[in-house]
Amino acid sequence: MKILLTGGAGFIGSNVADAYIELGHEVWILDNLSTGSKNNINKKAKFIEMDIRSSELENIIKTKNFDIINHHAAQIDVRKSVQNPLYDADINILGSLNIYQNAHKYGVKKVIFISSGGAIYGECLKPKTENDTKTPLSPYGVAKYSNEFYLDFYSKIHRLKYTTLRYANVYGPRQNPKGEAGVVSIFSTNMLENKQSYIYGDGSQKRDYIFVGDVVKANIKALSGFDNQAFNIGTGIATTTRGIYTALQQIYNYNKPAVYTDERPGELTCSVLNIDKMQTELEIKPKPLLTGLQLTAEYYKDKN
Ligand SMILES: NC(=O)c1ccc[n+]([C@@H]2O[C@H](COP(=O)([O-])OP(=O)(O)OC[C@H]3O[C@@H](n4cnc5c(N)ncnc54)[C@H](O)[C@@H]3O)[C@@H](O)[C@H]2O)c1
Repeated sequence: MKILLTGGAGFIGSNVADAYIELGHEVWILDNLSTGSKNNINKKAKFIEMDIRSSELENIIKTKNFDIINHHAAQIDVRKSVQNPLYDADINILGSLNIYQNAHKYGVKKVIFISSGGAIYGECLKPKTENDTKTPLSPYGVAKYSNEFYLDFYSKIHRLKYTTLRYANVYGPRQNPKGEAGVVSIFSTNMLENKQSYIYGDGSQKRDYIFVGDVVKANIKALSGFDNQAFNIGTGIATTTRGIYTALQQIYNYNKPAVYTDERPGELTCSVLNIDKMQTELEIKPKPLLTGLQLTAEYYKDKN
């Protein structure tokens, strides 16, 4: 297949690009390199340095005859979205619409959209299923969920197919410890560089941590079938920040404790996804956390 992958210079998108290329697909990466890096781009991919909001995107989609657009590019900083909802919506809603409108106009068969389970469901008492109530608490979450409605519109009115993947907290090779990064990459880098790690609040906040390799599998499945629906992509298991720190301490054989600081206002105490649909329909069994953390540690050790 001929695939346009937006955000393919980033952490998750570049891992997806590698797998698609490995499977023999023709991959075109479109990325403005705002948080991604040229070093992540697979040598066999064609690279277009462009913003998803650009008017030049139309000509790319018009002339290249893509079968699939896999849309990973996004403004990913939740706090930035809270401070500046217009900026977030400009990229995460209008930029996405620029893709969907041109995809429909020029006969792209399908869009794979990357949503966020953590951002759209809100606080959880038990793992959230795909049909549970959505209560996004940030403009980032509102924008992600809006994309899902827009894609539903394009599928019903214009027959543009889509699959939405709602990721939990993704970790693994190439996650950047700077900026809006996950704790696994931050703690890993700190431990390897013997720098102090900080945990907000008492570290009891729970998240669903999924290894990037499992996320990649979902992107492969979504290439054919599973149309016009959403899938949670997680592990179904809640792990505390403290638990992640302790597990990484064992892996890196690192003794220095984390320093606990003030909790961040508005932070969810728990976010975890029900993955029955992912397991039964996509037939993906997520890796145990320790296995994923060990694979990730190998990457950071090599890099350091
Ligand atoms: N990392 C997670 O835990 C997680 C969880 C849920 C959803 N997601 C989603 O997964 C996707 C990838 O996230 P990631 O963690 O790999 O982040 P990332 O920052 O590594 O990747 C995002 C990529 O998009 C590019 N980009 C940003 N704005 C752009 C624009 N306007 N035009 C073109 N390219 C642009 C960046 O340069 C970067 O390469 C995002 O849509 C994010 O919202 C990530």
